[in-house]
Amino acid sequence: AATVRYEAESSPATCAGAIESNHSGFSGSGFCNSNNATGASSQFTVNAASAGSATLAIRYAHGGTDTRSADIVVNGATVQSASAFGATGAWTTWSTKTVTVPVNAGSNTIRLVATGSAGLANIDYIEL
Ligand code: GCU
Repeated sequence: AATVRYEAESSPATCAGAIESNHSGFSGSGFCNSNNATGASSQFTVNAASAGSATLAIRYAHGGTDTRSADIVVNGATVQSASAFGATGAWTTWSTKTVTVPVNAGSNTIRLVATGSAGLANIDYIEL
C-alpha cells in the first residue's frame, strides 16, 4: 500500500508539549516540541492495510548534543525500547529514522515516549 504521511500537529495526533513552527524545514504547519520530561510523548493514529510488519519512518530534528531516546509503542505495546534519536546538528536540520513495527489491519496508535528527562527530539511527522 502507498505510504501515508501523518503530521504531528494534525488531529487526532497528540503532542505532550507544544506545536511549534519556529525552526524551518518542517512539513505541514509545525512540529511537536515535547515537554522536556521523561514520559513526554507524540502520538499518532495510523491506518494499515493489513496486519504484519510495517516500515515506520519518523522525521525529527535535534539541535542538542545529547541522544533523545524514545520507546516506540504500538497499540499500547512497546515494540522498541529506548530507540535512539541522535543529534542532527541543528533544530532546522531534519532527519528521518526508519524502524520496522508490527501493526494490525486498520487503525493503530503509534506513540513515541521519551525515556530521558530532556524529552523527545522535535517530531515533524511519521510515515507508514
Ligand atoms: C530549544 C529549541 C526547541 C527544542 C528544545 C529542546 O528550546 O528551540 O525546539 O525542543 O530546545 O531542547 O527540547
